[in-house]
Amino acid sequence: MSLHILGTGSYVPPLVVTNDDLSKYVDTNDEWIVSRTGIHQRHISVDETATDMAAKAAFAALENSGVKAEELDLILCATVSGDNLCPNLACMVQATIGATCPAFDLSGACSAFLFLLETAAAYLSTGRYHKILCVGSEQMSRILDWNDRSTCILFGDGAAGVVVEQGEDYLGSQLMVRGGDEVLKVPTPIGNSPFTKLEPTHPYVYMNGSETYKFATRTVPAQIQQLLEKTGVEQEQVDWVICHQANRRIIEAAARRLKGIPLEKFLMNIDEYGNTSAASIPLLLDECNRKGILKRGDLIVLAAFGGGLSCVATLIRW
Ligand code: UT7
Repeated sequence: MSLHILGTGSYVPPLVVTNDDLSKYVDTNDEWIVSRTGIHQRHISVDETATDMAAKAAFAALENSGVKAEELDLILCATVSGDNLCPNLACMVQATIGATCPAFDLSGACSAFLFLLETAAAYLSTGRYHKILCVGSEQMSRILDWNDRSTCILFGDGAAGVVVEQGEDYLGSQLMVRGGDEVLKVPTPIGNSPFTKLEPTHPYVYMNGSETYKFATRTVPAQIQQLLEKTGVEQEQVDWVICHQANRRIIEAAARRLKGIPLEKFLMNIDEYGNTSAASIPLLLDECNRKGILKRGDLIVLAAFGGGLSCVATLIRW
């Protein structure tokens, strides 16, 4: 597999919603949210959609990479909260940034960004495409039930992505899916067909929190361990872990199981953004890139989990 990250970019909407702000809408409080999740605030869209945010993140990633929109030969996007089912987000980004290349979406909820990288790396290996933009963008506030305190406090809005080209920095990946919709789902509306016998859906995020928690705390460290074994990398050689930012306690639990990787190597920004689903990993990657935390040659484990259920761990060299 072939991949080199040329640059990163991200965008979050300006409105910051604190835990105290949320307690005006649902029966919750800052102490509960911080102690159970590590989230202090999230950015929430007022008038920007997933497309608007994705385009801003794309422009930032192009600028950071020194690549022009017209030089891209593929755009891959992911969202569970896009403006439309059709056209997909990638087509909307293509139009907004002025690119002319093919563009399509992959659906993978919170693991989606790593499915995008896997797909990009496979295409780059074949030589079919040379410069690929990968963006995850989420307007989660659009698909949350704001009366459900067990989910609405967890998520935030934002977009982020990377521009990639051929290179030797995709060292391996480990993908798993345990298919089913009992634990986590976002149903679509059933529509108004006079013929349907389907039960009406509740078209918002549904999550069994404790089952998701159990899945994540068992699967993430197991996938990382298998990834490192198959790539011949010792835990002690890993410089950073960028894990999907869903819950600080999940990341701490993963760190406890991976005895050779201390918690300080698990980078985090969940306190500021909450869970931004497909944008979560590139948002943190971009922040660390721009702050100069990542040094050329660093070995970075990217780890994601989410609706599917799925779990992906990817090893890259920075
Ligand atoms: O990217 C998608 C992946 N999603 C995740 O990774 C989420 C994984 N799950 C979690 O992070 C945790 O399960 C949660 C943070 C969602 C919940 O934490 P928990 O420790 O599992 O809490 P719980 O659901 O067992 O609820 C404990 C109590 C309940 O009250 P009772 O029944 O004990 O009286 C809830 O009703 O906390 C109550 N509760 C709340 N209280 C204040 C639930 N939500 C809230 C809230 N504020 N927002």
